[in-house]
Amino acid sequence: MTYHPFYIIHQNMNKVISFTDCEVLLWSSSKGWHRDTLPIYFDTEKIIHIGLGYAGPLHKNYSLKGLTLLPGLIDSQVHFREPGFTHKEDLETGTKAAALGGITTIFEMPNTQPATTTVELLNDKYERAKNRSHVNYAFYSGGAKGFEDEISNLEADKRSPGLKIFLGSSFGPMLVDDDITLSQILSKSQRRVTVHCEDEAILNQNKLKLGSHPSVTEHPHWRSPESCLLATQKLVHLAKKLNKKVHVLHVTTREEVDFLKKHQDTATFEVLPQHLTFYAPDCYLNLGTLVQQNPPIRELHHQISLWEAINSGLVKTLGSDHAPHTLDEKKKPYPLSPSGMPGVQTLVPILLNHVANGKLTLERFVELMTLGVVNTFGLLNKGLIQKNFHSDFTCVDLKKSHTLLNEKMASKCGWTPFHGMTVQGYVHQTWIHGTCIMQEGEIISPPLGQSVLFN
Ligand code: DOR
Repeated sequence: MTYHPFYIIHQNMNKVISFTDCEVLLWSSSKGWHRDTLPIYFDTEKIIHIGLGYAGPLHKNYSLKGLTLLPGLIDSQVHFREPGFTHKEDLETGTKAAALGGITTIFEMPNTQPATTTVELLNDKYERAKNRSHVNYAFYSGGAKGFEDEISNLEADKRSPGLKIFLGSSFGPMLVDDDITLSQILSKSQRRVTVHCEDEAILNQNKLKLGSHPSVTEHPHWRSPESCLLATQKLVHLAKKLNKKVHVLHVTTREEVDFLKKHQDTATFEVLPQHLTFYAPDCYLNLGTLVQQNPPIRELHHQISLWEAINSGLVKTLGSDHAPHTLDEKKKPYPLSPSGMPGVQTLVPILLNHVANGKLTLERFVELMTLGVVNTFGLLNKGLIQKNFHSDFTCVDLKKSHTLLNEKMASKCGWTPFHGMTVQGYVHQTWIHGTCIMQEGEIISPPLGQSVLFN
């Protein structure tokens, strides 16, 4: 493979580079998020100086006129399917899609085959990612029945964001559907536990009510708001009793938002771009099983409440839940069609488009993908453009419009539910470790991703 000359300039050099002439999104405890045009100096390890007055050696300056420099954006929920389902995705293709989408770090989910429920299997994922990942990476471990004794060793791995558990079955082999196992897992855990909240018993009851040839428009009723609320309430009450912290993934209902607002001391929560963009029943009528996802995309009043939670500061993280399935799999008659959709490459443009339309500020969007993740999981040295932080950057053009197309997707599944959508907000470059890895839709370096660390 021949690499872009831009990459050749940077490779293996610990020389100082600077960015000038662009708007930079900075954060400080006194000012919060603010925009400035200060020059940024960095090498392949970290940011070494911000502002005027740098007198050290300088290898090269890049003028990023007209562009906006963001801290490297972190997607804290992706499914890259390796091992076990690599016909859908693998670590190489998934991280390529991430780099193309302006994501500098991903946290990958444990519902692979086998599920990541032992130290050996967690180490295996880190081995697989070495020299193959285009962005920085962390792997969740899986909390599951029969593996309770692994928990303390799994949580001791500070490269991992911690345990993930499924309270309702979704895709893959993982499920914790009894209170005793849930209680044992939470009791043994010392770190924040990340949870998919749908109640399995309600899902099973509701499934019996589906007709013999159900329509995908029934998906939000099978996987009902009640199933989500009950699972979230059960989890939070138990966590509170045991004095533990939890992170609720992909919240979809007004009822959960209202509940979680009262329990911020125990639970943080995440929202997804697809739930902020599509709504029922229209999305199912237009896109069918392509937008079948767990928990489901729901009616507009739920979406309005998710936007309120984003803008009031209640939501702490925004992840893609990149969950690729092939088009052939998605074409199976509902409910045999698998749930989940790709999203790691489209998250940033979709959200920048919401920024352009005034749905949220750029600062709030960036916070959900940097500081929110850092604070929720204890990620070290990433997420801010600040001296001594890692030199990961997402450089965007806030004015540029472009059309999202299946043909441009690097995911093995080869499609996006946003196909044909013209959005304002373009990822111009992705940088990790002081090196430009993606420029204007092209991967320009070999895989340079490294594992990250949590405190
Ligand atoms: O729709 C979903 N698909 N939701 C999940 O939480 C899992 C995911 C998958 O892995 O396919």
